[in-house]
Amino acid sequence: MTLRIGIDAGGTLTKIAIMNDHLAPAEALKFLKFPSSEIERTVAWLAAEANGAVLAFTGGKAGMLRALAEREAVATASGVDVLAVPEFEATCTGARWLLQRQGRSMERFLLTNVGTGTSIHYVTQDGHERVGGTGVGGGTIIGLSALLGWRDGSYEDLVTAALDGDRSRVDLKVSHIYAGVTPPIPGDLTASNFGNVRRQSEPVGIEDALASVVGLVGETVTTVSVHAARERGTADIIYIGSTFLGNKLLADIVYRYTRLRGGEPYVLPDGEYSGAVGALLALQG
Ligand SMILES: Nc1ncnc2c1ncn2[C@@H]1O[C@H](COP(=O)(O)OP(=O)(O)OP(=O)(O)O)[C@@H](O)[C@H]1O
Ligand SMILES: [Mg+2]
Repeated sequence: MTLRIGIDAGGTLTKIAIMNDHLAPAEALKFLKFPSSEIERTVAWLAAEANGAVLAFTGGKAGMLRALAEREAVATASGVDVLAVPEFEATCTGARWLLQRQGRSMERFLLTNVGTGTSIHYVTQDGHERVGGTGVGGGTIIGLSALLGWRDGSYEDLVTAALDGDRSRVDLKVSHIYAGVTPPIPGDLTASNFGNVRRQSEPVGIEDALASVVGLVGETVTTVSVHAARERGTADIIYIGSTFLGNKLLADIVYRYTRLRGGEPYVLPDGEYSGAVGALLALQG
């Protein structure tokens, strides 16, 4: 088959990976994404582009998308196979494959997917196991920022504003509490996210609040990951998910905080397409 398409319909974004086996390896794989709330755009894209392709669906909204695509006679247009791949299977397989493609193959690692929510997996050469998760994820950045008064448009705008923020007036560090004396743990660790707000006499700016929201999410997903990694006896933690898109602040926090706690972090480029890639790879067999 010439065209293989993997579709990961997540809670927020629908990620698509397209493999054209007739092209040279460097050009064979393409990515694109649509908001999951605009499901008809994905269906229209499939109607226009997926003719004669084989399709594999994964993600929480895969069933809904597939049903709509089939009703529009997209998915069955050429009578080809349409596959459903379990989300965790697709995500772990795709991440392993993307790591390998970047020359970073690993025997085993922890995989933290910061999507709308956060899901954590232990991945080995021949298997994977979900080892935890937290409801603190990308959806938290968007939702909590809105509650704090952020009204502007895109995710890009939000993460750019957060990058201008200063967390020092919002978050309480261990060194703030142990003022003037040596603390028993690194003073740079956050003692209390948002714990410094009430000590301020001047109002906290929205950028500062946004930076601390990103900090809360970054430190929470890191903390849960480091504990899970320790439990499995590995230091390598691979981070994926669209929450990292253009979000340098989050990546910086995750790198710094993981290392501070003895882990070895890597934010996988194109990692948000792991599920779509894993779904696509299932079409090979
Ligand atoms: N253009 C965008 N629109 C909305 N959110 C975005 C965008 N770009 C990045 N994000 C961030 O990415 C998060 C979604 O990440 P991702 O696409 O990995 O999750 P998902 O697969 O949709 O959700 P889940 O896997 O939890 O079902 C959002 O919560 C938001 O923080
Ligand atoms: Mg997802």
